[in-house]
Amino acid sequence: MKIVDLRSDTMTLPTDEMIEAIVNAHKSNRFGDDVVREDSVVNELEEKAARILGKEAALLVTSGTQGNLVSLLSQTYRGDEIVVERQSHTFKFEAGSMASMGGLFPKPVEGVRGYILPETLQEVISPDDTHYARTAMVVVENTHNYAGGAVITKNQVDALAEVAHDNGLKVHCDGARLFNAAVALSVSAKTLVEKADSVMICLSKGLSAPVGSLVAGNEEFIHEARRTRKRLGGGMRQAGLIAAPGIVALETMVDRLKEDHENAKLLYSRLRNIPGIEIEEPDTNIVFIGLDNLPVDSLELSNRLREQDILIYGGYGTRSRFVLNRHVDREDTLRVADAVEGILKVS
Ligand SMILES: Cc1ncc(COP(=O)(O)O)c(C=O)c1O
Repeated sequence: MKIVDLRSDTMTLPTDEMIEAIVNAHKSNRFGDDVVREDSVVNELEEKAARILGKEAALLVTSGTQGNLVSLLSQTYRGDEIVVERQSHTFKFEAGSMASMGGLFPKPVEGVRGYILPETLQEVISPDDTHYARTAMVVVENTHNYAGGAVITKNQVDALAEVAHDNGLKVHCDGARLFNAAVALSVSAKTLVEKADSVMICLSKGLSAPVGSLVAGNEEFIHEARRTRKRLGGGMRQAGLIAAPGIVALETMVDRLKEDHENAKLLYSRLRNIPGIEIEEPDTNIVFIGLDNLPVDSLELSNRLREQDILIYGGYGTRSRFVLNRHVDREDTLRVADAVEGILKVS
């Protein structure tokens, strides 16, 4: 039976067109040493990303984690304080990198579906007093993974950015899934980050490229980010091998994200009928279910689904996450719904 993998949209494999793009770039002699800016494919990808994101410049980085860290380190000083949402990726899932690598002090705050309310930000900005760390930045995660792929609208981002900028803070957008937000809201990605000083996007999640993320912002930021990337060991040589599929990802993989969103809604519409389940209608491609009222935890659910060739991660306690992606079609989604219903209704 086909294995249906819902662990993450990072599991998506490159398309034939992506592999062909690597071969074509090689045949056209386009690869070079990107540390000295001689890889024309990387240069093309960075220019394209900057244009799409409405920023002056962009920089290819190895991963989303590196992109977030590069963005933070390039715009702050050691000892500064960074306001992050309590369940955000930068705070919870990046191995404490802002503290360990940058001496930055995360200030986690409670959001509403992943969104830090402007009044919450206003309240937590430290006074300009030597007793306190200087509050230097706020991070917006859009979509917000742990809040179930929740979208943050342009008005919400702008309102938060206004408070941040009025108080001298920078705004960084962790846009690992920014295109999911843009597609769900039917707006361009650039409108969502217009007020952000820096943005990170991932090519290797729903967009199916094998490797790579980009950071974007003004020329000054990117100049500094290039040095920070080097410092972190992220200066790459013939990185056109990564950039070629990345260009295809940006050109061909954004619009289809709506299929993942439709399948997420389909899964939700089936699972919501299971007695005792906790579930929220997904905005994008991520469905979380709460199992508090059910006799099965996420580990057991993942083990029992695995017996039916369906993969989810099992480490979320009494929550389970299903991430819809390009390799999971409507029929697979219905199979997953049947399997989950079968396990949870009879347990
Ligand atoms: C919201 C968010 N930000 C950042 C990242 C980090 O990306 P990477 O796994 O490429 O380091 C992820 C990865 O899943 C993510 O979900």
